[in-house]
Amino acid sequence: MLKLAVLISGGGSNLKALLDAAADPDFPAQIVCVGSDTEAPGLAYATAAGIPTFVVRPSDYDSREEWGQVLAAAIQEHGIGTGPHPGLVVSAGLMRILPAGFVRSFSPDLINTHPALLPAFPGAHAVRDALAAGATETGVTVHVIDEGVDTGPVLRQVAVPVLPGDTEDALHERIKREERPLLVQTVRDIARGELSLDAATSRS
Ligand code: GAR
Repeated sequence: MLKLAVLISGGGSNLKALLDAAADPDFPAQIVCVGSDTEAPGLAYATAAGIPTFVVRPSDYDSREEWGQVLAAAIQEHGIGTGPHPGLVVSAGLMRILPAGFVRSFSPDLINTHPALLPAFPGAHAVRDALAAGATETGVTVHVIDEGVDTGPVLRQVAVPVLPGDTEDALHERIKREERPLLVQTVRDIARGELSLDAATSRS
């Protein structure tokens, strides 16, 4: 059973999809903790499922690296990133760039879901940027996190059309409808050994 730490910043619909999947005894992964950089509303999903949560705020630390060290320690307390079965850290709507030291602590067992077809539209405003660029297609990417911003090896992608008159919210919701099952499927494949993060990382 693959142990997961999930990191969120907002509503947590991707977290909810993982929790729902993990409620099936046949699902090969188990969420052992959920962390955030803020009092994210989505933490309530974890609490309702009896899963421990923690908040580590960047503003409480002198540097991003220091914040990353405390966040890493909070995850490692749950047995992730250590020992023969390091588990997996899933950034599912964490709206912060993870510092290099944090990435090195968990690499390559660290994935992110991003609402665009990377390498197009990296960063915090991917949906807005796709609309502003006049893209007719965007989508979702699940990728391994490296030390860059949304630059790590791509694991899975699904395209989503941009429709005339789309608002940022409407387009983001259409993306999320594809994103949730894609993230669940990607975690399932990693847990079953059908998708290797080592191999993905060494190809980059
Ligand atoms: C998701 O669409 C995720 O890809 C995005 O935030 C949303 C979180 O939704 N992440 C980023 O934009 C990171 N750059 P959720 O809180 O409903 O899961």
